Amino acid sequence: MGLDLVDHRRGPADKYSWMPPFDWEIAYTNERWWDEVRYYADDPWFVQVLEDGVEVARIELDDPGGINPTYLNVPELGTDRLEIQLIEVAAASHNRGVGTRVVQALSRRHPGRRLFAYSEQADGFWARLGWEPFYDPGPGPAGHTLFIQPTVAPTLDSGSHVRHE
Ligand SMILES: CC(C)(COP(=O)(O)OP(=O)(O)OC[C@H]1O[C@@H](n2cnc3c(N)ncnc32)[C@H](O)[C@@H]1OP(=O)(O)O)[C@@H](O)C(=O)NCCC(=O)NCCS
Repeated sequence: MGLDLVDHRRGPADKYSWMPPFDWEIAYTNERWWDEVRYYADDPWFVQVLEDGVEVARIELDDPGGINPTYLNVPELGTDRLEIQLIEVAAASHNRGVGTRVVQALSRRHPGRRLFAYSEQADGFWARLGWEPFYDPGPGPAGHTLFIQPTVAPTLDSGSHVRHE
């Protein structure tokens, strides 16, 4: 069954109270990622992912988002970059391919953009998608790995490739 991506933007609503109209009955492991009012953001952009009309994932995008200059060997992305600030699959829907399909659907919806994300302890997930990792070599605890969507999208479990640029 296909996924529907529904955008939620704040527009002229009160920035001190507006929250995206997610289905707050659905359980997530990281509830605190979603229940904080983004009063500090100029133009918060959320995406609600529905499968058969039921919410299965949430995304927060940052357009275009920032590349941390301390990461090594990062290609120049320019203004076509688009950051997946946060992505979470509903707790009941983990590990059945929803996260993979969500990122693929987002890639299809934004063919002219180069998506990237800082992994929140999900390096294996991004690597499994074929996204390339970049690291911050600085002192101190390792930072979040930066993953960038490849310019040629690898197809899972197949030798063939599909261009999406
Ligand atoms: C990470 C997350 C989005 C993955 O979604 P999902 O629907 O469970 O993932 P999929 O079923 O599509 O898994 C695809 C592959 O990634 C792997 N994977 C999934 N979550 C992973 C994680 N947290 N760390 C490492 N690998 C992971 C799976 O094992 C699977 O690999 P396999 O095919 O070799 O078995 C989901 O687990 C989630 O919402 N986690 C909590 C929030 C989070 O960590 N978000 C990431 C923010 S950067």
